[in-house]
Amino acid sequence: MPGSESAASYDAIAASDLYLFELVNKRGVKLTFSPVGAALMSLLLPDSEGKTTDIVLGYDEPGLYLRDDYYLGAVVGRYANRITGNQVNINGTVYALRSKDERYHHHGGVEGFNKKLFKGRLLQEAGAAGVEFTYTSAHLEEGYPGEFRLTVKYLLTEDNEWVIEFNGLADRDTIVNTTQHAYFNLAGHASGGVEQHQLQLFANHYLPVNQLQVPTGVIAPVAGTVFDFTRSRPIGELLEQRDEQLVLGGGYDHSFVLESRHTPALKYAARVYQPVSGISMELWTTEPSVHFYAGNFLENVQGKQGAVYGRRAGFCLETQHFPDSPNQPAFPSTLLRAGQPYYSKTVFKFS
Ligand code: BGC
Repeated sequence: MPGSESAASYDAIAASDLYLFELVNKRGVKLTFSPVGAALMSLLLPDSEGKTTDIVLGYDEPGLYLRDDYYLGAVVGRYANRITGNQVNINGTVYALRSKDERYHHHGGVEGFNKKLFKGRLLQEAGAAGVEFTYTSAHLEEGYPGEFRLTVKYLLTEDNEWVIEFNGLADRDTIVNTTQHAYFNLAGHASGGVEQHQLQLFANHYLPVNQLQVPTGVIAPVAGTVFDFTRSRPIGELLEQRDEQLVLGGGYDHSFVLESRHTPALKYAARVYQPVSGISMELWTTEPSVHFYAGNFLENVQGKQGAVYGRRAGFCLETQHFPDSPNQPAFPSTLLRAGQPYYSKTVFKFS
């Protein structure tokens, strides 16, 4: 069923459907996307001497995203991150969620949005080139109630900003928590570990996790812990410390709290600087948290241009609601009411 929006079987997608979408600005910054998972495949930044660096991990062909196990560059949903117990109670009805692990639901299930074929169309807006990807997730897809129509709009501005906007609408009450799962390495996608990157996270609190890497429900201060990135410092600086939370995550794999009561304001969330390449990145989001994942579980990933991505070859700053919110009444709610618009915006800026 080439061209279908619900590409359930990988083999049903014809290679000819897998157009590559490309955005370029006047400074020569170039982003390419796969319609599979609306995934960012490459982000090329030219410097003043004409050298270009690709700062995201990815694959050479759009179709290779169908076989990916690491969510490289993809949109994750319907519910990104973990939900304990593989079920969700909405208005008194319990829905069983499809899961790869019997103990928790992760990143939208067995075949989440990252594996779906989106319909893409290029856009031109004032001061920005864009692409809009749409996907309709059927009622009970991966167990979630309600048909959910999602539009992902990506813009590349002349100020070197990558703007990500999610708009959605469901026809029944459901839960939604989408994110963009780009893995960055500001020294270049094939340059090795990200430990030297200097990270600053504008978060005074983080969410400690349990053995399943699900938040315990406690909102803990970062002060005096290895999670304190309120001042810029290398990702690798305290990584080898004996810390119970680092052991549980295999390193950093934790949500940082930008606000404990959700507001639609765009919040300044993070700044990253790579001293060798001199490339820096800033991050703003309407979401209440940013999940910092330092690529702990990457292993022997056959990437672009023959690159092999190992442990910590890239890091993610996933803007989202808190993990396991459906089971944590004190967390900002991820319930989306029927007919109520879903909206989320994130901006990455590069220099
Ligand atoms: C999660 C990690 C997971 C990775 C790839 C991240 O968003 O936090 O625990 O290993 O995605 O699946």
